[in-house]
Amino acid sequence: MNGQPVRERVSDDAAAPEPAVGVGHSHAKAILLGEHTVVHGTAAIAFPLPALPVRAIARPGRSGPRAEVAAEGHFRFLAGETGEAGPPSGPRVAVEEALRRWGMTGAVVDVVVECDIPLARGLGSSAACAGAAVRAVADLYGRVLDAATLYDCVQCGEQVAHGRASGIDASAVLANGPILFHQGTARPIGITVAADLVIADTGVPGSTHEAVAGVRRTLDADPRSARRVLHRATELIGSAAADLTEGRAAELGAAMLDFQDLLAELGVSTPRIDALVTAARDAGAFGAKLTGAGFGGCVLALTATGTAPAVSAALRAAGAVRTWTVTARSLRSPAPSSTASTPDRETHP
Ligand code: PMV
Repeated sequence: MNGQPVRERVSDDAAAPEPAVGVGHSHAKAILLGEHTVVHGTAAIAFPLPALPVRAIARPGRSGPRAEVAAEGHFRFLAGETGEAGPPSGPRVAVEEALRRWGMTGAVVDVVVECDIPLARGLGSSAACAGAAVRAVADLYGRVLDAATLYDCVQCGEQVAHGRASGIDASAVLANGPILFHQGTARPIGITVAADLVIADTGVPGSTHEAVAGVRRTLDADPRSARRVLHRATELIGSAAADLTEGRAAELGAAMLDFQDLLAELGVSTPRIDALVTAARDAGAFGAKLTGAGFGGCVLALTATGTAPAVSAALRAAGAVRTWTVTARSLRSPAPSSTASTPDRETHP
């Protein structure tokens, strides 16, 4: 392969071939339990959110300054031998890793990313954008992308975005169903619990990089307390995995609340997150916790089937700028198209 696109698409005017284009997709994720401690060796449980998709469009690029700006809400980057300085983004690093593996380091590719995932809200936007971008570039150059290569490329980008990335985001944004992730390996996890999940956006962006670094400092400062926290996290994740597969919603909710206490101890909760957790509890949720890196971002609540609308309303009344509901029933089927997370009414800050 010499880096040249292998396909041409013919426009209505058969004499004028359209430039080759590659397209790739991915989606958001939510972590049920195990964020942060997963960076330090525990397992974590996560599920995909296909209702928050990302689409990337790749075209052959040229080095030098970029001539156009992507539409609002979207972003655009050049990857490869661009001649551009500046800090590399996660998606760009992921694409450059793919080009390197394909022996195409001399290529320049122009990628537009259309991301419907709210950025910096713990929903995996950086990994999802990287996954969609690598798939688009593979499509452009007619490359067959196996799951391990795709994961590795996204992980390269995630190391830039998180400082030190466990791989949970890269796994979950590429997964078709809920996963139990442990030390680089994801396996599907069965769900029989009869409950719904409500995700509430605090409206506050949180930096994963800063949160991961802060947790590392907290753990390093007190190794004995670190061992206790990681041991307790391991217990909670293990019991939650069993509760999920054996259908114990109340116990799962209690594990989420206990895990939230650990995350607060690690310093990544905020008064706004705490207020949303309390609001979800007061509205009858089995449990609630932050999801993702924290320092802002989103809260995840587990509710009895049918009570999600009341919990969503309580979360919005307590300051959430928007909420989404995911039915556990939709998570039971691994097919991406059957995993539904529906946006609830939006409010604006
Ligand atoms: O907030 P997010 O979507 O970037 O989630 C990060 C999950 C962490 O456990 C905090 C970091 C990691 O790499 O596992």
